[in-house]
Amino acid sequence: MRLDIVTIFPEYLEPLNVSLVGKARARGQLDVRIHDLREWTHDKHHTVDDTPYGGGPGMVMKPEPWGEALDEILASGDGRPVMVVPTPSGAPFTQQLAVELSEAPWLVFTPARYEGIDRRVIEEYGDRLDVREVSIGDYVLAGGEAPVLVMVEAIARLLPGVLGNAASHQDDSFAPGAMADLLEGPVYTKPPEWRGRTIPEVLLSGHHGKIARWRRDEAFRRTDRNRPDLIERADPAAFDKKDREILAALGWAPGTDGRFGRTSEAVEE
Ligand code: ADE
Repeated sequence: MRLDIVTIFPEYLEPLNVSLVGKARARGQLDVRIHDLREWTHDKHHTVDDTPYGGGPGMVMKPEPWGEALDEILASGDGRPVMVVPTPSGAPFTQQLAVELSEAPWLVFTPARYEGIDRRVIEEYGDRLDVREVSIGDYVLAGGEAPVLVMVEAIARLLPGVLGNAASHQDDSFAPGAMADLLEGPVYTKPPEWRGRTIPEVLLSGHHGKIARWRRDEAFRRTDRNRPDLIERADPAAFDKKDREILAALGWAPGTDGRFGRTSEAVEE
């Protein structure tokens, strides 16, 4: 996969040399090209921003450097990349979107500073490319570089051969599949006792069926506690008899449409 990132802070993207993404680059699985937007300015001060039309606070990124940068990058490759524009006004970045973007051969990220990029840039490339305006959460950062780090890591770990154990993203929280709609439960490793704290007995039993059931019950407990909205939204067809028992114990019951809602405080803690 090829990734181009256009930024006024190339050094902000240094973490892409480290760990999983760094190794994927070193192995040639990821071709990451970081570009300094100021290289496409022509004035002495390398100006990339200007005051907003209509007034208001802050500055807006000028269209000309972006246009020249993007034209040159587009001309340097075959086919059309998906253009990812990080913005707090974008659609939510989800695991589903990470999976979709991981299937594209080429992504171009355009992290902005200030109040964002002149709208005409998004329109211009929207006519030619699949442009996605994406937010990583309901908070406002000072720029799109940290969101690019987040998105690239989420996407890169899905690429074939990048994670050591291909099975390890199949039961990620939010991954499509049997554990969809549930958060992952707790994990343990050796030693078997640490500061007087032991491991849940079932994990030492070697009984795969019981372990799977215990993990699923723990996933329900954690989802109930941290993300009840996921249970409310879940398709109840995904819940088996044991799921319904743990949900009932946690204070959930199906409504008239079959979807689960909270009825009372939990019976068990
Ligand atoms: N730029 C500033 N805040 C952002 C956010 N939450 N998501 C994506 N890009 C951003």
